[in-house]
Amino acid sequence: MPLSQIAGNLSVLASFPAFVLYYLFYSTFDFNDPEGRVSDTTTFLNAYDFIVIGAGSSGSVVANRLTEMSDWKVLLLEAGGDETIISDIPGVVHHLQRTNIDWSYKTVPQTGSCLAFKDNRCTWPRGKVLGGTSVLNYMVYARGNKQDYDQWEANGNPGWNPYIAANKKYHGTGGYLTVQEPAYTTPLVTAFIQAGVEMGYQNLDCNAAQQTGFMVAQATSRRGKRCSTAKAFLRPIRKRPNLYISMRSRVHKIIIDSSTKQATAVRFEKEGHIYEVRANKEIIVSAGTVNSPQLLMLSKIGPEDHLNSFGIPLMADLPVGDNLQDHIALGGMVFRINKPLGVMEARYYSLPSLLNYTIHGAGPLTSLGGTEGVAWVKTKYAPPGDWPDIQYHFVSATPASESGLFFRYNTNMKDSVWDNYYKPIVNTDMWQLIPTLLRPKSRGTIRLA
Ligand SMILES: *[C@@H]1O[C@H](CO)[C@@H](O)[C@H](O)[C@H]1NC(C)=O
Repeated sequence: MPLSQIAGNLSVLASFPAFVLYYLFYSTFDFNDPEGRVSDTTTFLNAYDFIVIGAGSSGSVVANRLTEMSDWKVLLLEAGGDETIISDIPGVVHHLQRTNIDWSYKTVPQTGSCLAFKDNRCTWPRGKVLGGTSVLNYMVYARGNKQDYDQWEANGNPGWNPYIAANKKYHGTGGYLTVQEPAYTTPLVTAFIQAGVEMGYQNLDCNAAQQTGFMVAQATSRRGKRCSTAKAFLRPIRKRPNLYISMRSRVHKIIIDSSTKQATAVRFEKEGHIYEVRANKEIIVSAGTVNSPQLLMLSKIGPEDHLNSFGIPLMADLPVGDNLQDHIALGGMVFRINKPLGVMEARYYSLPSLLNYTIHGAGPLTSLGGTEGVAWVKTKYAPPGDWPDIQYHFVSATPASESGLFFRYNTNMKDSVWDNYYKPIVNTDMWQLIPTLLRPKSRGTIRLA
């Protein structure tokens, strides 16, 4: 272990008391703190008006809105526990995958992609925690393109055309979710944006009138810390008497009445006990891209042949789990630099850096794991208008920006790729550009295993 790394590790240890003080402060002085922790329901009513399955990026919002109606009782079920002070720190985001707040999925072996990863399988991180994947992600706040929504509506999905939103101001104040630029940026992102301007793109707020352009990343963050959907939408309303949040509650099945085909109840497991609670009005499935179709299939809704092959009786033959789409990103475009500007463990995980974060909510640990800039550009294949087909993530870090303890394993990287490509440049100053395909033609499926 090189001396600099030993020194780095020691300073992490030395800053531990600062974390403890910070944690004690926030947990002691709860009062009516909008960020006070939610409490966990341990006894259950026989029935609620609504049962929301999954407290992630959407379930947290749904539970918030439903409980505005004070005579509706809402049960929110989450398979994971609460966030930690570690998941609050943007600068250590790469430490979160493969821990107990991640479902840690992998794709099946691929033939034309994921080739740098063991068994040609990509890892597929998904949040198993209050706030869902908004607790694991790199926090980049990016709105959808209005033409995509128009297209969805034109494809037969009424309600997606955002003409109302377009008539209002582009950003509000006083809402639940906080969006900020990170307090800390490096000169690298300035150079990135300058390069975009030289190529004829505009430097603008790509979350406003026009998406095509270059900008400093906006983040779902508050005072330098992660603002997950749980922090944004659940903590401030945790004292509503009609909201019941149950953590570590894994839903096994939605019970559907076979004669009326009405979903009537939810069966879930918590701390070894099986509970079945009824929903008087509705059950909302917001368990995420993977677990929502899984749960529907376990509840007898899905492709007939597939359910048959598992001996699951059929309630409804529907293409559940089909049409899976993702915004595929390409790693590996790495550029080395000869100035001390990239993410480096010694700079990011130092005592001054931890103190700056703890006391001022500033410094390198507020960086989105090095994701500093984003841009939306149009290739020659893009349709006309403000409808870019590629998004760039500009990152002042690479998988080799740390000693090979996290990214390498987060991505399930083949040893040969690590040894030949990244290992020789470990812990040097670098940046990388991650192009992301916005409207891929490939389609995948979610199936039971
Ligand atoms: C903390 O970080 C900010 C940048 O985010 C920097 O401007 C400031 O000088 C730092 N403060 C200390 C005490 O290091």
